[in-house]
Amino acid sequence: MASVTLENVAKIYPGDVYGVRDFDLEISDGEFLVLVGPSGCGKSTTLRMVAGLETISAGTLKIGDRVVNDVHPRDRDIAMVFQNYALYPHMTVFDNMAFALKMRKTPKSEIKERVAWAASLLGLEPLLARKPKALSGGQRQRVALGRAIVRKPAVFLFDEPLSNLDAKLRVETRAEIKRLHRQLGTTTIYVTHDQEEAMTLGDRVCVMCDGLQRQCAPPLEIYRNPADRFVAGFLGMPSMNFLQGELQQLDGQVWFASSDARLRLDGASSEWLAGEVNRPIVAGIRPESFQIHESDSVADGKSIAATVQVVEPLGSQMDVYLVLKSGARIVCRVSAASMTEGKLVSLLIDPAEIHLFEPSSAEDPYGRSLRSAEGELV
Ligand SMILES: Nc1ncnc2c1ncn2[C@@H]1O[C@H](COP(=O)(O)OP(=O)(O)O)[C@@H](O)[C@H]1O
Ligand SMILES: [Mg+2]
Repeated sequence: MASVTLENVAKIYPGDVYGVRDFDLEISDGEFLVLVGPSGCGKSTTLRMVAGLETISAGTLKIGDRVVNDVHPRDRDIAMVFQNYALYPHMTVFDNMAFALKMRKTPKSEIKERVAWAASLLGLEPLLARKPKALSGGQRQRVALGRAIVRKPAVFLFDEPLSNLDAKLRVETRAEIKRLHRQLGTTTIYVTHDQEEAMTLGDRVCVMCDGLQRQCAPPLEIYRNPADRFVAGFLGMPSMNFLQGELQQLDGQVWFASSDARLRLDGASSEWLAGEVNRPIVAGIRPESFQIHESDSVADGKSIAATVQVVEPLGSQMDVYLVLKSGARIVCRVSAASMTEGKLVSLLIDPAEIHLFEPSSAEDPYGRSLRSAEGELV
């Protein structure tokens, strides 16, 4: 097993296309690290550089203590699992799993032993004599996992391994990957565009955008304390609501004020924030941080008047889409209840659940959070 370290790593494709910029990341031995972000943000490029399938334009890449910038993929002691399984169609499941070991001239008895071990971990024993075309998508991906496991590599690399599976199978296989990691303890880098997959699997989650790292931390820390508006909007479903407004100070209190609402920012009346009043700010409120009251009276400082537009039932919960006076839109996720479309309601918000961000600027379209690393307003 091994750690993986990227120091100032960059990938510039021909034509000056930046795949990844200035990437620093230290993945400890045995850690499960998830790279997440929208399509084209540089996740696969990063993973493929670790694998050695892509050259590194700048920086240093280490596996354990060894610099591997120029080491052939075969000699990096890694195993990769892809979205499209990449099984050999003419070989049986056994031979697919045994292939890499055969190429390394592993003794036959050891190959048999290792394939049997991996097959038992993954429940593949009954399928060993089949060819890939006689397997379901889920079974094929398990074989691809098995093929990676038999090699007992120092590092597993996964590139969107569940994207071709249907929703139910995706959740089942996700749990299986987590169980395997618990059991084997192998250092893992896992790429996905799916924020839910990232949150459920990662010991740490690294959120990327435009070839840059925006935040890297344990999933709940990112969720509770997103570093900027990009991360805040990317993690969480439905996405965080953002309201444009300004900071105001009145009666020794600091308020968020917009044309739709005045919200009191409890615990936010520190000197720093008080020094920042009368300037534009963005308030971020997660869909699950609201309570909906079917009343047209609004509690000053604590709630916003809104009109229900669409209700989407989800079973025990529901998503409610609303519009504010200014025309701004809000989505709330609340416990299922009867709710009339077109009705005027009041949205109650716990002040502790209000995030504050810098407004967009030319240098940073996503606005940094005004919270300290400890989650306190600074
Ligand atoms: N072989 C390539 N040649 C030129 N540009 C590429 C190549 N591969 C990827 N890119 C570009 O690099 C960026 C990152 O791509 P990629 O790492 O595949 O993103 P992701 O996996 O997050 O979807 C994109 O802008 C993509 O168009
Ligand atoms: Mg990709």
